[in-house]
Amino acid sequence: MTRQLARPVGITATGQCYPERRVTNDDLSKVMETSDEWIRSRTGIGSRHWVEKGVGASDLAVPALQMALDQRGMKPGELEAIIVATVTPDTMFPATACRVQDAIGAKNAFGFDLSAACSGFLYALTTGAALIASGAYSKVAVVGVDVMSSIMNMEDRATCVLFGDGAGAVILEPVPEGLGLIDFEHRVDGSGGCILHMPAGGSKKPASHATVEAKEHFIHQSGSEVFKFAVREMAEGSRAMLDRNGFLPSDLKLFVPHQANMRIMDAAAKRLELPSDRMVVNIDRYANTTAATIPTALHQAKEAGRMEKGDLVLLSAFGAGLTWGTVLLRWAY
Ligand SMILES: CC(C)(COP(=O)(O)OP(=O)(O)OC[C@H]1O[C@@H](n2cnc3c(N)ncnc32)[C@H](O)[C@@H]1OP(=O)(O)O)[C@@H](O)C(=O)NCCC(=O)NCCS
Repeated sequence: MTRQLARPVGITATGQCYPERRVTNDDLSKVMETSDEWIRSRTGIGSRHWVEKGVGASDLAVPALQMALDQRGMKPGELEAIIVATVTPDTMFPATACRVQDAIGAKNAFGFDLSAACSGFLYALTTGAALIASGAYSKVAVVGVDVMSSIMNMEDRATCVLFGDGAGAVILEPVPEGLGLIDFEHRVDGSGGCILHMPAGGSKKPASHATVEAKEHFIHQSGSEVFKFAVREMAEGSRAMLDRNGFLPSDLKLFVPHQANMRIMDAAAKRLELPSDRMVVNIDRYANTTAATIPTALHQAKEAGRMEKGDLVLLSAFGAGLTWGTVLLRWAY
């Protein structure tokens, strides 16, 4: 079974924003017991960008969305909906989408945040596309943004070296038949929630002196468990998506995986028997920016002239939840 939209919807513009401050592996090795060699060989990460204190998700989301609007020649007032995928919202409420709407002047849009961690952008992409396919909307913005430096425990060297801050944005619109989203699949397995989570700060365990002292407002993860899950689902989900649509890996112009670890991405590409030049990589420069990895990678691939209208592109993500998802599309411009 494939999942098809009632009318074709595609990405018609992209944008991105990273904070200026670049932190290299060597910078980290001055403040914790780690090394460029360890981080590079275990993860493929060379550097990441982190915000200055006081900068929130909306501060990165707004310039990324503005870049996409400018690229499309669209005014903010034309947007009808803004979906922000994030696990590091400015505040628990109001939603970051509301701050983005106000700051960018999208006075005719409604908006909401979507929480699916590293799968968030793909969930938001298909949610936005479904709004358009319903016939009720025609101009929807989807932003993937995370300020992971705000929830990292700098004393947990196996985790804090992995993450970066950033935002990627896309505009979704109706597109001609044969372009845009072809098929998608999303899954959740809540039984694996405890291998990657933030233990406190929600209604179950509100913030208290005790939760702060126990460092429960940071990312907690079992790295090796996440690694095994990621390799399995990224490879199997991608292969199943191609099979059920009658495509071979060699039909793909680009494979855009979530950027969590170069070894996970390489393993997925190998199982897919995909030539390495078809994979889009930005983890080396930006690390894992959670919901922002895929939209920024798309923006960078388009800017570098790596895809044209009609090219077959496969997007694949996994993350906390556990969540995972795959989207197959034909690039629309
Ligand atoms: C976290 C991860 C890089 C660890 O790599 P690994 O090869 O499994 O390494 P291990 O956990 O076995 O640790 C090996 C050793 O390196 C040490 N180590 C951990 N972090 C280190 C660091 N930054 N620098 C130097 N040494 C480090 C460990 O303490 C351990 O030492 P020990 O053997 O003396 O106990 C890897 O498991 C991973 O990327 N998992 C996926 C995590 C992820 O992507 N999460 C987000 C998903 S969206």
